[in-house]
Amino acid sequence: MTAGYPTWRSDLPELMDDPSSDRRLLERTLRQFGLINRLFSRSDELLRRYLLDDMVRQGRTSATVLDVGAGAGDIARRLVRSARRRGLNLSITCLDSDHRVVQYAQRNLVNEPSITVQSGSIFEPAHHRAQRYDYVFCNHFLHHLQDDEIARFLDIAHRITRRRLLVNDLLRSYWAALGYKLFAALFLRASFAQHDGVLSIRRGFRPAELRRLVDGSAWVNEATVHTAVPGRVYLLGTRSSSSSRALSRSLCSRVVGAETASRSATSD
Ligand SMILES: C[S@@+](CC[C@H](N)C(=O)[O-])C[C@H]1O[C@@H](n2cnc3c(N)ncnc32)[C@H](O)[C@@H]1O
Repeated sequence: MTAGYPTWRSDLPELMDDPSSDRRLLERTLRQFGLINRLFSRSDELLRRYLLDDMVRQGRTSATVLDVGAGAGDIARRLVRSARRRGLNLSITCLDSDHRVVQYAQRNLVNEPSITVQSGSIFEPAHHRAQRYDYVFCNHFLHHLQDDEIARFLDIAHRITRRRLLVNDLLRSYWAALGYKLFAALFLRASFAQHDGVLSIRRGFRPAELRRLVDGSAWVNEATVHTAVPGRVYLLGTRSSSSSRALSRSLCSRVVGAETASRSATSD
């Protein structure tokens, strides 16, 4: 794919994704991303609306959540605290494939027993084969993937989500890039945030592109794509109760099948 802009998604690599990149700069980047998340990502608000309000509507008081590509885990920490203030209990798993990021997140989240930090890629079977979560969420993760990986990710997310998927990412637009460049030049020094932030926007999505990716996935009838100011595009997927029932049935029959298989293996 070419790196044309904004017609095509860029596929240039981000500096933070280089495993040999300077660790001090990487950690400062994670701190600065925390500031960007709070000011611009809208994730706190989207999670309140689509996760916490949803729990209340459903009469639930506890739920499990997976944050994919969780970075420093700052969004997960605010989510767990916001849930607690409303009398809701969340058990959040923060998954990230970069072990340096994971170590940073573990230090950052040391006082949060409701959050577990796991190291690994969502594409590794160990992180998606047996697990199911009520809610699956990611912020600024999707644009790290190529289109074929996004298709795989959406199918994995469909299998592991019991209730809802929220994928919040960047809208690819000149205005978003211009605004970010100005902010970054003023406030984000001595890190990868200036370079990677602009590149992330170039790797971001137009709503129709994200919709096409959804249409090619198991979410085709269960997800909607939205935009939000400033420069956000997000996907909201809600498992229909019939597909959740079908999922429980298929899990149930797989468990029964596995038990039968293990019983016959034992009796052999
Ligand atoms: C731009 S950061 C976003 C971090 C965090 N969600 C935030 O909003 O601050 C993207 C993160 O995704 C992680 N990542 C990339 N590919 C991954 C994969 N296949 N599985 C899990 N994490 C991945 C990277 O290591 C990186 O920490």
